[in-house]
Amino acid sequence: MSPPRKLHIKSYGCQMNVYDAQRMVDTLAGEGFVETANADEADLVILNTCHIREKASEKVYSELGRLRVAREEAARNGRDMRIAVAGCVAQAEGDEIIRRAPVVDVVVGPQSYHHLPKLLARAAQGGKAIETEFPAEDKFAFLPQPKSDAIRARGISAFVTVQEGCDKFCTFCVVPYTRGAEVSRPVDKIVEDVKRLADNGVRELTLIGQNVNAYHGEGPDGRPWPLGKLLQRLAAIPGIARLRYSTSHPRDVEDSLIEAHRDVPALMPFVHLPVQSGSDRILAAMNRKHTVRDYLDAIDRFRQARQDIAFSSDFIVGFPGETEDDFSATLALVMQIGYAAAYSFKYSPRPGTPAAEMREMVQASDMDERLARLQDLIDSQQSAFNRAAIGATVDVLFERPARNPGQIVGRTAYLQPAHVMASADIIGQVLPVRIDGLERYSLLGELAAAAPARAARASSQTTIGA
Ligand code: 5AD
Ligand code: SF4
Repeated sequence: MSPPRKLHIKSYGCQMNVYDAQRMVDTLAGEGFVETANADEADLVILNTCHIREKASEKVYSELGRLRVAREEAARNGRDMRIAVAGCVAQAEGDEIIRRAPVVDVVVGPQSYHHLPKLLARAAQGGKAIETEFPAEDKFAFLPQPKSDAIRARGISAFVTVQEGCDKFCTFCVVPYTRGAEVSRPVDKIVEDVKRLADNGVRELTLIGQNVNAYHGEGPDGRPWPLGKLLQRLAAIPGIARLRYSTSHPRDVEDSLIEAHRDVPALMPFVHLPVQSGSDRILAAMNRKHTVRDYLDAIDRFRQARQDIAFSSDFIVGFPGETEDDFSATLALVMQIGYAAAYSFKYSPRPGTPAAEMREMVQASDMDERLARLQDLIDSQQSAFNRAAIGATVDVLFERPARNPGQIVGRTAYLQPAHVMASADIIGQVLPVRIDGLERYSLLGELAAAAPARAARASSQTTIGA
């Protein structure tokens, strides 16, 4: 038997790329590949790329420069290294990637990962293989599910794609072009996947989609189910202790989602709801399809359903035409809401999007200055949110041993890392922890013998879409 071939995947960007990378590993496991953390010794390197902002997009080319050297070194040692580019840069740039970086053998868009074995076979004949179509078939029907040991190795918290693509066409955003039109997976298929995950130790699920609350997958009754109903169904699967979902759009906050927050204790009271700007003029230019008032109304409805709910958001500063007044309105909105966490970005023109044609670019120095002011405000809110946990007893789902010997790390309802001294058998359990300290973004505490706790407060994580 020939030795297994080694596969190295490097993912950039959002949670969906993390999920997709796992699906590629599962697909290629069937072709005799095993994963390696070391790109230099790999027989196949896949760069799973992100196109959302220019900085993210350019990373792929510097990495390809490094891989060219690694490949030459491998060749000197009589070893063949193949290089594939997957993800949203692959989708957006197609054969242009090979023109710019001839070292690349395979270019594969996010809708075609189930064709990887075929594409690699073509490349093995010495050719280049490019696939960036949006095939009519459902890729999920062809992507193999992970084996039990792969699920266990990935830990107790798992992402599950329930929806992909976006029909919103915000003027700054490449997602509708790279991920295509909105598609929802059927409820039964998701339930099947989640049962397998739960049977293999998964306790926490994050349902992901670029516009996850636009979910409308076919239910077992033949009708489209909204996200709230899907969450209710998944909460009933034995073993699932926590549910989350990301990323939501303010326009698609349906009553069923609000009801799920009211009625499903496993649904965590932490919602990522990007607003992008606090100015109605800029929201209109962004084609966000909602106003500041609509956003505040959505926030109110969540808060009425669950008092302990907290929010995170995404912001873009320096969108074309953004004035100092528009930016002040963004700061005012942040002040009004009080976020547990938020991500903010300088506007980056993306080829092919309507905003890239807009003149009235904001000067780079103004963008830098606005970003710094916004980030200071967000940081102070996040710190206050984290400090508020000190002295409280909060539920923590324990995930893994921490770097410090003897410590186990888990997360609160608000995704704050929490460290305690304990034995590793608490991994996978939700236990009350008395928080007595804070180190940067991490909470420190002790296992409390007490009755079930209320959740504490804040977060960190990359987001997708919406
Ligand atoms: N420039 C800057 N930020 C962007 N985002 C999306 N497109 C752009 C762009 N062209 C941000 C949005 C989105 C997050 C995932 O990335 O805030 O919510
Ligand atoms: Fe869709 Fe979100 Fe991009 Fe807008 S920002 S086009 S809602 S993915």
